[in-house]
Amino acid sequence: MNNDMLKDLKDRLQEFPFGVHVEEVGFVEEAGDGVARISGLSTARYNELVSFDNNNYGIVFSLKPDRVEVVIVGEPEAVKAGDAVKLTGRVLSIGVSDNVLGRILDPLGSPLDGLGEIKQTRQMPLDRAAPPLIERDFVKEPLYTGIKVIDSMLPIGRGQRELIIGDSGTGKTALAVDTIANQKKFDVICVYVAIGKKKAEVARVIEELRNSDALKYTVLIVADAGASLGLKYIAPYAGAAVAEYFMLKGRDVLVVYDDLTRHADAYRSLSLLLRRPPGREAFPGDIFYIHSSLLERAARRHDHYGGGSITALPIAETYAGRLTAYIPTNLISITDGQIFLDLNLFNSGIIPAVDIGRSVSRIGGKTQKPAMKQVAERLKLDYAQFLEVEIFTRLGAPVEEETRALITRGQRLREVLKQPRFSSLGLAEQVVVFFMLNQGYLDSIELQKVRPFVESQLLKVKQEIPEVIKEIETTGELTSKTKNRLTDFLTGETK
Ligand SMILES: Nc1ncnc2c1ncn2[C@@H]1O[C@H](COP(=O)(O)OP(=O)(O)OP(=O)(O)O)[C@@H](O)[C@H]1O
Ligand SMILES: [Mg+2]
Repeated sequence: MNNDMLKDLKDRLQEFPFGVHVEEVGFVEEAGDGVARISGLSTARYNELVSFDNNNYGIVFSLKPDRVEVVIVGEPEAVKAGDAVKLTGRVLSIGVSDNVLGRILDPLGSPLDGLGEIKQTRQMPLDRAAPPLIERDFVKEPLYTGIKVIDSMLPIGRGQRELIIGDSGTGKTALAVDTIANQKKFDVICVYVAIGKKKAEVARVIEELRNSDALKYTVLIVADAGASLGLKYIAPYAGAAVAEYFMLKGRDVLVVYDDLTRHADAYRSLSLLLRRPPGREAFPGDIFYIHSSLLERAARRHDHYGGGSITALPIAETYAGRLTAYIPTNLISITDGQIFLDLNLFNSGIIPAVDIGRSVSRIGGKTQKPAMKQVAERLKLDYAQFLEVEIFTRLGAPVEEETRALITRGQRLREVLKQPRFSSLGLAEQVVVFFMLNQGYLDSIELQKVRPFVESQLLKVKQEIPEVIKEIETTGELTSKTKNRLTDFLTGETK
């Protein structure tokens, strides 16, 4: 026997578990629709991972006196009555490493893109307590969407939770994807979680991210419409776990949950299958807790504790614009504000279809740079006033000079806020655009020509006085010197 063999034998003996080892084994009494009832697991704990015969897994969903109920997260069809079940003593986790960037995974961490297993992973629990208060810091850094209507009037801060809500087809996903695409300028890691979306929709998002070169800093967690209820249920937690992996390394992360309406539906189905008492709209009573504990995991961590942040953009779908349905009201009360997309605005070509009056961002304003504050301060109020008086003029009422000016400006603001997809603007560019508007440079431009005019002026500013752009971008300030420079330039241009 040579030395190597001896060493190998020794190593193996070290690993050999001497002593008595007791393992509790349960049996599947009943299985179907992605859930199973199991007898014999008396020491099971809530949320514990159980393993079935065939390498399949489930999570303990409810504990009953004589049985436990389990949500199957692998292949539900593979679990049959009579199968043996073992407790694992672990909670569900997902293997994450820096190599997940650019990858498309299912909520258990298995690749869906055929690019091979993720290597050198650290197991991140799907269910994890939110960072404690003491570790948290105020939201103070902006998260730029590159979308004018948001960055100016509904600014989002890193660590904030902002709901994107609206009817189907109003541009919710587009808004989130454009925001992800904009992060390439900012070193923010992105996680996009697709829950219950059609395969084609998911494929479109992947394509868009790839085309905008955003896939390389993004992780996609996908439980599409065809996935089991269990996978749809755990998908957002998997996304949160991936985001936490990067946050704990001090990184800023943006996570999009598209969408939590589908998530709530999956949770409701599971609860009904397991005969939990239904509450409002047949959702189980703890659906509020389910979503609030998920969104609590978004936070900004104090530098003292290693920094990092998770910004969450949960998406919710409404039906006929009803914000008062159960899941929308819950989510509105949990988050730090909502961006409401309106179907009528969308249909009349006002896209992004943000209904400014019904949208709010409660903490992002503190992160806005002085330059943007200066030009955007009055926009929201002016716009609201404009909308009010616009109705009267539609009815043909005569208006005073002052009102006419308000309308002229408001209509131009509405034009300026329209923005095609994948055309994000930086801070300085946005500041220049709103400066032009506020200073009246657009008032005499015909409405249809406002957008091309703004575009060409912006281009000229960038080409001919690039130092102005640079100054605003780097300092975040709009000094009177810069303003004079801009005024001189723009006045020269419009003469
Ligand atoms: N800024 C934009 N400019 C032009 N088209 C847009 C813009 N935003 C969204 N759209 C288009 O509107 C359509 C609907 O957008 P999107 O799929 O994002 O809606 P949604 O609200 O996510 O819908 P669902 O609820 O069905 O998921 C898409 O075809 C998209 O390309
Ligand atoms: Mg969508």
